[in-house]
Amino acid sequence: MPASLRFVLALLGLALIAAPISVSVLLGEEARAARVNAEAMTGGRVARGEAAVRRFGCTGCHAMSVLRGPSGLVGPPLSGIASRAEIAGSLANTPEHMVAWLRFPQQLRPGCGMPQQPMTEAEARDLAAYLYTLRSG
Ligand code: HEC
Repeated sequence: MPASLRFVLALLGLALIAAPISVSVLLGEEARAARVNAEAMTGGRVARGEAAVRRFGCTGCHAMSVLRGPSGLVGPPLSGIASRAEIAGSLANTPEHMVAWLRFPQQLRPGCGMPQQPMTEAEARDLAAYLYTLRSG
């Protein structure tokens, strides 16, 4: 095999290795930026929010495609909730409304299917931070 062909093949091989690495670096960077943004919006922590989702049993009623485990269909799916304009039908999807909804769904929509669980404001902010990392598309 001529040296020039070997060189071209070597370059191709390197490109094949480098492409998936750069894609995964970019995706990791995007996920990190989404976390930083969600925490700035809500004053909560994404990692604590993810743990709280499990503790409060939210997936018993809501599908969240990124989380394994039970995936209920009682409430609307929450995958992509960060990209929605409104929550619970009529509230603008702002961090303050989200925190209030998570703590007091029965006050905001009496009789709705979402139970009101004892929850501190800090826990609701963590949950909201986690939910705002769930973007569609
Ligand atoms: C027993 C079932 C149940 C549980 C548990 C539950 N929810 Fe809900 N949730 C609902 C229902 C039903 C609705 C729709 C309420 C409505 O709009 O009338 C809802 C609505 C929502 C909405 C608004 C969604 C939208 O598209 O408008 C969010 C956000 C939400 N829930 C988050 C959570 C989180 C976070 C938890 C865990 C802390 C949780 N829910 C626990 C049943 C539940």
